[in-house]
Amino acid sequence: MAHTPLTEIAHEVVGAVVGPGDLVADATVGNGHDTVFLARRVGETGVVHGFDVQEQALQRAAARLASNGVSRQVCLYRSGHEKLEQCLPPGARARLTAVMFNLGYLPGGPREITTGAETTEVALRAALGLLAAGGVLSVLVYPGHDAGVAELALVERLAPRWEEAGDTVEVYEGAGRRAPVLFVARRRAAIRGDSPALPAGAAMASSSAPATARFPCLVK
Ligand SMILES: C[S@@+](CC[C@H](N)C(=O)[O-])C[C@H]1O[C@@H](n2cnc3c(N)ncnc32)[C@H](O)[C@@H]1O
Repeated sequence: MAHTPLTEIAHEVVGAVVGPGDLVADATVGNGHDTVFLARRVGETGVVHGFDVQEQALQRAAARLASNGVSRQVCLYRSGHEKLEQCLPPGARARLTAVMFNLGYLPGGPREITTGAETTEVALRAALGLLAAGGVLSVLVYPGHDAGVAELALVERLAPRWEEAGDTVEVYEGAGRRAPVLFVARRRAAIRGDSPALPAGAAMASSSAPATARFPCLVK
């Protein structure tokens, strides 16, 4: 039986939530497939903040964005996603409609440069603090290598806490042993009179600071 690739499921889930003018983040830019997808969804009135530690990845992604004509709405940072919160404008807190993580190493790049559980945990916490009511967090984990095994254990440990904090979590499993796993955390939409739905410990959104202020992008 043919299975839908988890990358496609992530796009379906995120695409159902993200629209023109939105503020979103791609926590692992890599070759830029997810960045292009997000840039198309938010259009020129939105902003995609994209993070990667490798120059090679950012250059490939920048070329892909340019050839798709969607560079204008993207800020690329040569930075670990653990710095997500520091890089985004202060007004971005609780304003992002989606944050995508596609963990692991760069396809076609050095396998030793990979995301790791320690920094992924910091980045996931920041991402949840940045997520808006009705927003979605997608985390694609690849347990086919050692760092991915640790990241799967991490996300399996964190997901119940996200649910305790009020988000709902869906898990999509690929076929086979050590196959990739996609976690999707959804924040419930705001109901009139609600205060913003935030995970325990997260600060309230600052309404005065602009969420889409153009911070200096490191790569353009
Ligand atoms: C599986 S690839 C991402 C694929 C990408 N989303 C795409 O659509 O092509 C994972 C990427 O995470 C990057 N990475 C590793 N550590 C990172 C970190 N701490 N912060 C952000 N990116 C990191 C790697 O350099 C690699 O390019």
